[in-house]
Amino acid sequence: MRRMEKPLPGGVSAHDRFRLPDTISPKHYRLTLEPDLRNFTFIGSVEIDIAVREKTDTVILHASEIGIMEASVKRGESGIPVLAMHHDTKKTELSLHLDATLYAGDEAVLSFRFSGILNDHLNGFYRSIYKTESGASRMLATTQFEDVDARRAFPCFDEPAAKATFDVTLIVPKELDAVSNMRVVEETDLGDGRKRMRFGTTPQMSTYLLAFTVGELEYLRGRTAHGTLVRIVTMPGKKEQGRFALDVGIRTLQFYEEYFGIPYPLPKLDMAAIPDFAAGAMENWGLITYRDVNLLVDPVHSSEAGKQRVAIVVAHEIAHQWFGNLVTMDWWNQLWLNEGFASWMEYLAVDHLFPEWHIWEQFLDTDHARALEADGLRTTHAVEVPQGSVEKMRQNFDAVSYSKGAAVIRMIHAMVGPEVFRRGLQAYLARHAYGNTVTEDLWTALEKASGEPVREIMDTWTKQPGYPVLDAASGEHKRFLGSGAPLTEQEAKQQWRFVITAKEGKLNPGQTILLRVNYTPEQWAQLIGKMRSGAFDAIDRFGLVDDLLMLARSGHAPAETLLSMLSETAWSEPSYLVWKALSSAFAEVACLVPEGTVAEKIWDALARHSIEPVVAHLGWERRPDDTHADTLLRPLALHMFGKFGDEETIAEARRRFAAYQEDEKALEPNLRGMVYYLVARFGGEEEHAILSGLYCVSERSEEKQRYLSALGAFRDKALLLKTIAFILSGAVRSQDVPSGAAAVAANRHGSCIAWDAMVANWKELKRQFGPSIMLLSGLVEYVSGQLGTLEEAEEVEAFFKKNPVPQADQSVARALERIRGQAAWAARAREPIARWISAR
Ligand code: BES
Ligand code: ZN
Repeated sequence: MRRMEKPLPGGVSAHDRFRLPDTISPKHYRLTLEPDLRNFTFIGSVEIDIAVREKTDTVILHASEIGIMEASVKRGESGIPVLAMHHDTKKTELSLHLDATLYAGDEAVLSFRFSGILNDHLNGFYRSIYKTESGASRMLATTQFEDVDARRAFPCFDEPAAKATFDVTLIVPKELDAVSNMRVVEETDLGDGRKRMRFGTTPQMSTYLLAFTVGELEYLRGRTAHGTLVRIVTMPGKKEQGRFALDVGIRTLQFYEEYFGIPYPLPKLDMAAIPDFAAGAMENWGLITYRDVNLLVDPVHSSEAGKQRVAIVVAHEIAHQWFGNLVTMDWWNQLWLNEGFASWMEYLAVDHLFPEWHIWEQFLDTDHARALEADGLRTTHAVEVPQGSVEKMRQNFDAVSYSKGAAVIRMIHAMVGPEVFRRGLQAYLARHAYGNTVTEDLWTALEKASGEPVREIMDTWTKQPGYPVLDAASGEHKRFLGSGAPLTEQEAKQQWRFVITAKEGKLNPGQTILLRVNYTPEQWAQLIGKMRSGAFDAIDRFGLVDDLLMLARSGHAPAETLLSMLSETAWSEPSYLVWKALSSAFAEVACLVPEGTVAEKIWDALARHSIEPVVAHLGWERRPDDTHADTLLRPLALHMFGKFGDEETIAEARRRFAAYQEDEKALEPNLRGMVYYLVARFGGEEEHAILSGLYCVSERSEEKQRYLSALGAFRDKALLLKTIAFILSGAVRSQDVPSGAAAVAANRHGSCIAWDAMVANWKELKRQFGPSIMLLSGLVEYVSGQLGTLEEAEEVEAFFKKNPVPQADQSVARALERIRGQAAWAARAREPIARWISAR
C-alpha cells in the first residue's frame, strides 16, 4: 500500500501517519441513510465525487464499525475494479486497492453500500430514548460526529480540512419526521409505510458538522429580521419550553451577523433538544443539538441560573456557525481556535442581550479562574497542542482549549481594543470563509488591523504550557505550578510577554492578563485593608481572593495571610462573583480542619459570621428589585450558611421542602438546588428515599439534575453507597452518570466511596460508555481528582497502570497531580491553620 512520502506538518513520518494522505480530496457526497428504530440498525449508501491531487492506485478514507457491503469506483463512465479492500478497524481506515492508477487532475466517484448499528454510546449515529407524556417509551435516532465519528455513520474523509458539499437523503417511517443541516427539498411517499426526505445541498463544510435527527418532532418557529427561519425542535409536548431559547437564538444570530459583518449563510437554523446527549451541545451547521437542560426553559420550574446557562450555550453554539463552521481549524491540534473563541464570544453576545446580567464578571470565575487552575498543573498542555495521534487530540476538549483559550482571546481583545479586534476578526472570517486556518492566520489578521506585533506576543501564551506568577516586589515572573513543586530547568526558563499596569497598589486591574500576582506579606496586608475600603471593583477583589487562595495552596504565600483575608474582608463583601471565590476558600480551609473538634466549631462560626450579612440582606424571599446577581447570590449564601451549621436555615430548608412536596409551586426554582442540598446534607434515610423517588418520577431535566446532586450530599456512608447504587441502577441516563458520581466524590464523606465504586464497577462502566471518551474521561477526572492523600494517589496510579485508559490518560494525569497537590497543601497548611484558629 502506498503511504504518504511527504513529511506531514509537525515532522510526523509516514510510519505513524494519522492523517489521510492528501492524494485525494472529496468534493461532494450524496448520502442516503435509512435507520431502523426497531432493530437499532441502519443501512446506507454514499457516492463521493473526488478529485485526485497526486497519482495513486489506493484510495484511503475513514470508516468505523460499519459493514461495507459493496464498494466501487468509477472514472468518467468506466468502472475501475477494486482489487482488494482492507478495513483497518484500529485506525478506522478503509483502503481500496485499485486495478488502475488515478492521476492528478482525475475526477472519480466512489460508491459504497453499508450497514451499521444505531448505538447507545451517544456518538456516531445513535439512538436515544424518551417517554411521552402518557409514559410510553419512544425512540429517536440522532448524530454526534465531532470529533471523529462521522465515520461511524458512513465512509468519508473524516478530517476537518477535507471540506465538501453534502446532499443528505433520509428514508424514514411515514409517521416520523427528520431534520438535517439543510431544509427538506423533497418528500416522497414510498407507498410501503416509508417516505424519502431529501435535504438541500450544504455549503462546503467539514464532516464533523453534518447532522440529522429522526423521530417524532415538534417545532416552535421564528424568523430573524433578515428572514432566516429559526426553529426549536423538541420531542412532543415540550416545544413551549423552547420560547426563551428561540428568542435568544434569533437575537444572537442577528447580533453575530452584524458583529462579524457576514450574513448567516444557511436558509434556516434548527436547535434541537436531544434526550440523551454526551456533551452540552453541538454546533452542527444549521442543526445545533443540545442536551435538553441546555435548551429548554420551563417558566415555572427553571431557575435564573438555568436560563443563564441556556443563553450562554445558545450563544456559544451560534458563534461556532461562523467561528468553526464557516472558518474551521485545519486540524484538531488547533481546536482552541474553535472552542476558545466561542467560549469568549458567548459572553460578548449574552452581554449584548442581557446587559443587566453583568455576565463578564462571571467570566472571571467560570473561565479565567478555571483556566488558571487547570493550566497551573504540570500536566497541562499548550493551547496550540503539538501534533499527536487522533487519540491524543480527542482529549483537547478541556479547560485549556476552552477557558484558557477564551482568556487568551480576552487578553488580546483588551490589548488591541474592541474596534480593532472586531475589524481584524471580520477580515479573518472574510478571507478564510469556507476554508481552514491555523492560529497564525488569526494573529496575522489582528496584526494587520492593529499594527502591533500580535503574533510575537501571543505565541508566548499559546505555544507553551502554563502561565506565570508575577512577583510584585521584584517585577520578575516565572511559571506557576499549583502543586508548589519545584520548577524543572526547562520550566524555570519559561517567559511570557505582557504589559502590566497597576491601580491602588494592585497589579493587573481588570484581571485581563492571564497570570497570578504575588505580593509581600506587608503588601498583602495593605491590599486587604483596601479591599475593605472599597478601592477595588468586584473583578479585582475576585482576583485577589482567587490568587491568594491558590498562592497559599501552592506554598507561595503563607496560609495565615489567606486566613486574614477571609476573616477581615468576607463579612463586608456584597458581590456574587467575589463570594464564588470566598465560599470555595472557606470550604478549602474547612477540609483541613479535623471534624468534630473545637477548631471546626470555631471555623464554622467564622464562616457563618462572614456570610450572615449577605443572608440578612437578601433573606429567603424574592424581592421585586432583585438584580440577577442577587438572585444567584441568595441560594449561594443560604447554602453556605446552612452548610456551616446555621440551625434556623436548615430548619427553614426542611419546612420549604415539606411544603414543596405538597405543592411544587411553594418553592421557587432559584432556591430549589440549595434546599435539596441542605435537606440531604442534614437528612437521613427518609430524605434519601424522597429525593430518589422524585428523581425517578420527574421528567424535567433541571429538577433531575438538582435531585441527583443532592443525593451526593448525605453525610452517612450507607446513604452515599445507596446513591452510588442508584446511579448505577439504570435509573440515571449514561449522560448524567459522571455528574452524579462527581456529586458524591465532591463530598468529603463520599470521595472514597465514589472511587471504590468506580473501581468495583470499572468493567461495566467502560462497557456502558463504550467508545464515548467524553463520559469516561469526565468520570475518571471528577472521581479520582477528589481524593487527597499520597496513599490514594498511589492507589489511583496503580489502578490505571493495571487498567490503562489511553483515551483518558490526560484525565488520569491531571487527577494524580491534583491529589498530590492537595496532599502537599494539607501537609503544609494543617498546622498553621490549626494554630491560627486556636489563637482566635
Ligand atoms: N463542539 C462542542 C461540543 C463537543 C464537545 C463535541 C466535545 C465533541 C466533543 C460544543 O461547541 C461545546 O463546546 N459545547 C459545550 C457547551 C459550551 C457552552 C461550553 C459542552 O458541550 O460542554
Ligand atoms: Zn464549542
